[in-house]
Amino acid sequence: MTVAVHWLLQAAADVPAGDDWLTPAERVRLAALRAPRRRADWRLGRWTAKRAVAASLAGDGPPPAPAAVEVRAAADGAPEAFVGGHPAPLAISLSHRAGLAVCMAAPAGTALGCDLELVEPRSDAFVADYLTAPERAAVQAATATDRALLVALLWSAKESALKALRSGLRLDTRWVAVDPPAPAGLGCWHPLTVRHPATGRVLPGWWRHDAGRVLTVVATPPPSPPRAIQIGPPARPAAGPVRGDLWTSPDWIAACLSKLSHGEGGDGGNC
Ligand SMILES: CC(C)(COP(=O)(O)OP(=O)(O)OC[C@H]1O[C@@H](n2cnc3c(N)ncnc32)[C@H](O)[C@@H]1OP(=O)(O)O)[C@@H](O)C(=O)NCCC(=O)NCCS
Repeated sequence: MTVAVHWLLQAAADVPAGDDWLTPAERVRLAALRAPRRRADWRLGRWTAKRAVAASLAGDGPPPAPAAVEVRAAADGAPEAFVGGHPAPLAISLSHRAGLAVCMAAPAGTALGCDLELVEPRSDAFVADYLTAPERAAVQAATATDRALLVALLWSAKESALKALRSGLRLDTRWVAVDPPAPAGLGCWHPLTVRHPATGRVLPGWWRHDAGRVLTVVATPPPSPPRAIQIGPPARPAAGPVRGDLWTSPDWIAACLSKLSHGEGGDGGNC
């Protein structure tokens, strides 16, 4: 059995200047963030997640407005989506880097982690500190051209796995081992496997390389190649009370899960 995973990439320029798309609780959270870069990353991540959740839940009707979707941090820091105050039938994962953010969405209950990294030079000390012996050997064997891509990919795959395990960097990055993938072409999804030897868990996933950045995702159950979420303009905020009952009704959840499991709304294939 595989699960459908949908992804959305947004840039800082996509985020509205005002904050009326945030819920009151999210505005309180934002007010507590002092560092300008952290505030910008947080807003970009919330915007991306809200749009991904709204589009994933749209079905045949209008998507929920961004202000109707709330992305809360669980006690471990992992993002969780709510619509109208009720848990959305989705698992989500978030990453933000250098003015870009990605959100992946899968059916609720999926252990899901994604990560976005720049392909940039990383030192020998970085490789020695964070990679396992087989990963270091793969980096050593890589050509000078492939080295930066391979290191970014191994690091990103580890971060995805640590998010799927919900530990983040509380777990040593060498405790999750990436089967080093062969370099592959731009703009398509390629398979990836990360192992957590302590528990015997295997986290299958996908990676892609576009314009100087690497995107990875891992999940259990195993994910099918991620499909891009197609979005239009955001839905206007609903006049009157938020229809949380509509987006969490059993019929609607069944329709949404069916849409996700059939992989509708994507770009087809691995590219
Ligand atoms: C999860 C983690 C590895 C991501 O780090 P990163 O690569 O710098 O950042 P990314 O942009 O790729 O991902 C950040 C997102 O990961 C998600 N995330 C955070 N902790 C998570 C966890 N335990 N499991 C899954 N996802 C998590 C959040 O959505 C976060 O974005 P947000 O805070 O804006 O909502 C890192 O934040 C971490 O290890 N956190 C847990 C440990 C911790 O809290 N440390 C605090 C300082 S000691």
